[in-house]
Amino acid sequence: MTDLEQLFTTMEYGPAPEEKSTAAAWLASHQNAFGHFINGQWSDPRADFSTTNPATGEQLATLSQGSKEEIDSAVSAARKGGEQWRALSGHQRGRHLYALARHIQKFSRILAIIETMDNGKPIRESRDIDIPLVARHFYHHAGWAPLVESELPHSTPHGVVGQVIPWNFPLLMLAWKVAPALAAGNSVVLKPAEYTSLSALLFAEIAHRAGLPPGTLNIVTGDGATGRHLVNHSEISKVAFTGSTAVGREIRKSIAGSGKALTLELGGKSPFIVFADADIDSAVEGVVDAIWFNQGQVCCAGSRLLLQEGIAEPFIDRLKERMSHIRVGDPLDKAIDMGAIVDPVQRQQIADYVETGKAEGASCWQAECPLPESGCFYPPTLFTGVEPAHTIAQEEIFGPVLATLTFRTHDEAVALANNSRYGLAASVWSENINMALDVASRLEAGVVWVNATNLFDAGCGFGGYHESGYGREGGIEGLWAYRRSHADLPADLATTVEERPEKPPLDSLPSERLDRTAKLYIGGVQTRPDGGHVRRLVDSGGQPLGEVGEGNRKDIRNAVEAARNGTKWSLMSPHQRAQVLYFIAENLEIRTDEFAKRLEEQGSAAAGEGAIEVHAAIDRLFTQAAWCDKFEGPIHHSTAGRIVFALPEPIGVMAILCPDRNPLLSMLSLLGPALAMGNRVVLIPSERYPLVATDLYQVFETSDLPAGSVNVITGSQPTLNRVLSSHDDVDAIWCVGNRSLAKECEQLSVGNLKQTWTTAGERDWFDPELGSGREFLRRATQVKNLWIPFGE
Ligand code: NAI
Repeated sequence: MTDLEQLFTTMEYGPAPEEKSTAAAWLASHQNAFGHFINGQWSDPRADFSTTNPATGEQLATLSQGSKEEIDSAVSAARKGGEQWRALSGHQRGRHLYALARHIQKFSRILAIIETMDNGKPIRESRDIDIPLVARHFYHHAGWAPLVESELPHSTPHGVVGQVIPWNFPLLMLAWKVAPALAAGNSVVLKPAEYTSLSALLFAEIAHRAGLPPGTLNIVTGDGATGRHLVNHSEISKVAFTGSTAVGREIRKSIAGSGKALTLELGGKSPFIVFADADIDSAVEGVVDAIWFNQGQVCCAGSRLLLQEGIAEPFIDRLKERMSHIRVGDPLDKAIDMGAIVDPVQRQQIADYVETGKAEGASCWQAECPLPESGCFYPPTLFTGVEPAHTIAQEEIFGPVLATLTFRTHDEAVALANNSRYGLAASVWSENINMALDVASRLEAGVVWVNATNLFDAGCGFGGYHESGYGREGGIEGLWAYRRSHADLPADLATTVEERPEKPPLDSLPSERLDRTAKLYIGGVQTRPDGGHVRRLVDSGGQPLGEVGEGNRKDIRNAVEAARNGTKWSLMSPHQRAQVLYFIAENLEIRTDEFAKRLEEQGSAAAGEGAIEVHAAIDRLFTQAAWCDKFEGPIHHSTAGRIVFALPEPIGVMAILCPDRNPLLSMLSLLGPALAMGNRVVLIPSERYPLVATDLYQVFETSDLPAGSVNVITGSQPTLNRVLSSHDDVDAIWCVGNRSLAKECEQLSVGNLKQTWTTAGERDWFDPELGSGREFLRRATQVKNLWIPFGE
C-alpha cells in the first residue's frame, strides 16, 4: 500500500471514494424496484427493465415501463392536480418551489450519489455542479411564481405539460423542465430517460415530503414508447423535449396540427475557437472543460476545436500534455476527472465514430491514461488533421472525442464555426475583446461564451439555432415557453375558417393575358410567374376584379434565394429599419382611398369601411416601426466575473402565410414585426384577397425598402405552403389560417427544424393585444445569450 511519504514523492492521488450506504439504503427501502410516481403515490412496481451502474455493471434497481393507460392516469392526475395548483396564489406556489429548493440542498449528498451511480458521471461534477445548479434553478423559479402574472402579462398557463428528458444531466434536466413549468402555473407529467430514472424518482419522493400537492408533478418511467404515449396524449397542451435531433423531429411530426406548444433542445457540434492572441493556458484548461466534462456527453460540448494556424502546433502539444493527466476511473472517487459512459450502446457509438474518423483520414491520439478493467469507460480522444466535411466534424458524437481544425483569418473562423447544421453553443478565446465580440456576434449559436465554456445559470436562457432546436430554458425567456400568450391562439380554434379545397375555385388562365396581371415581387423586381399561369379574381358579385400570378415551386425558390441574399436589411441599424417602416406607413397613407376602395370592391370590407382597415394598418405599421429599437433583451448579472447579454437576433429568412380576414391589416400586422426585427420575408398573401398585397409593391418601391427584404408570391396557399415548409433555406414559417395548413406546415418543417408559428387567422386583428405586441416580436427573434468576462 502507498504510504504518505510515497504520495508526497510521486504526487499520486490515493483513492477517495464517496460513501454510498445512504443511497444503497434508499434503494433497499424500495426493495430496489420502482413503479411510477402518480398523484403523490407509487404505483406497483413491475420489473420491466433494469437500471445499472455503468461503472461497475451492477444492477441498481428494476423499473416499470409506462403503458398508455399509465400515461392516461398520470395526465388525469396532472389535470386535477393542476386545477388545485392554479387555485393557489403565486406567493403560495413560490413557497412550494422554495421548499423544493431547500429540500434539494438538504438531500444534496444522496442526490449526487444516486446520480453518479446511475449515470457514471464523476461525483465531483454531480456534487459540485449538477446538484447546486438544480437547487439554484428551483430558487430562481420560486421567485418567478409570484411575479408571473405581472411580468408575463396577457398570458395563461398551458395546463398539463408533457416533458421528456435525456440521461446526460438527469436531475438538472428535470429541474430545467419542472421548475419553470410549475412556476408558470402548469402541472407536469415527466418521463426521465430509461438509463437514468433514479434521481427523478428520488426527487418525486423528496417533493412529496416537501408538501408539493399530489398530481402537480407525476413521473412515469419507460423508454421511447412511453415518451410517445406522453407527447401524443390529447390532454397535454405543451411538450418540452431534450434529447437527440432525430427524436425531436419525430415528436415535431407526430404532434403537428394538434395545437400543442413545443420546445426542443437538441444536439450540437459546438465550436471552440482559439485565436493566436488567446491566453493559451486558460484556453487549454477550457478545452478540458468543454469536451471532457461529463465524458463529453453534453449537448453544448465544445467538440470542434478551431485553432488559428500560428498556434496550432504548440497548442496541441500542450493539450496532449494536459490530457495525459486526466484521470479516468471510478466515478464515486472524488479525485477522478472522467467517469463512465452511460451505457455500452453509447460507448459503441463513440468507438464507431472514432473508427470512422480514422478511416476518413484524420489522425487519432488517445492519452495513455489507465482505464478500469471493467465497466463502461472510454479514454479522452483527440483528432487532428480533420477536414470540415469529415463525419467527426459534422456529427454529434456525444462522447470524449475532440475534432481539431485550423483557420487563418477571423472570417475563416466564423465560416468554419457556422459550417454546421447545429447552432447550440460556441466558445471564443482571445484577449482582444473587440475582435472576440465581433466574432461572437457573427456566430449562429444560441449561447456564446467569451473566454469561458459550459457556464449555466438559472437566470439566463439556454437553447439553440437551426437543428439544435427552438425555445429557451432558463430566465424569463424560458418562462415564456410555459405560458400561452393571448396572441397565440392555437390554430385549431380557427373553426370558422373554411378549409380550402386543394384546387382554388378561381379560373386559371393561359399566359397571353399576362399584361393585365399583377406580377410576383422577387428581389425588389416585379416578375412574371415562372409557370406563366394566372388566376382571375372576381368580386363578391362575380364581376372580374383582376388577375394575379400563380406562383410555383420555382418562384418560391427564387423568392427564398432573393431573401437569403437580402442581407442588407438585417445589417441596417434598428433606427434605419424604423425609418423605412415609417416611410411605408406614410406612403400607404397617401393612397388610403385607393386601398380602401380595393378592400370594399373585393368584398373583404363592407361598403364605407375600407378606410377603417387602412387606417388601422397604418397605425399598426407605426407601432411596429416604433418597436424596431425598443425590443431588447435583458442583461443578466449571473455568476461572479461574467455578465450575460440576452440579444434578440433576427431568425433569418421567414415565410408568412396570411389569413383572409382583414387582409391588409392582418398581412401588415404579421409582416411588420418580422421586418422590424430584421428578418427577410417571403410573403404569401391571402389566397382570396391577394390584390392588397400586389398593390403594395409600389408602396415598397417608393419607401427605400432594400431588394429582397420582402418577396411576394401569390397563388395556392396549400401548394406554396408545402414548398416553403420543406425548404431548407427558410428558417421560420408563420402559418396563420386553418388547421390543415397548420398541420402540413408543422409536419414538413422537420427537414431543417424550422421554427413554426401556426395560429388562428380568425381573430380580431383590430385588437392591439391580438394583432400586435411582444408575442409577435418574440416569435420573430431568437435569443443569443452572450457571456462576457470582466475583472481579472
Ligand atoms: P434519445 O433522443 O433517443 O432519448 C432522449 C429521451 O427521449 C429519452 O427519455 C427517451 O426515452 C425519449 N424518447 C425516445 N424516443 C422517443 C419518442 N419517439 N417520443 C418521445 N420520447 C422519446 O437519445 P438517446 O437514444 O438516449 O441517445 C442517442 C443520441 O442522442 C446520443 O448519442 C446523442 O448523440 C443524442 N443525445 C443528445 C442529447 C442532448 O442533450 N442534445 C441528450 C441525449 C442524447
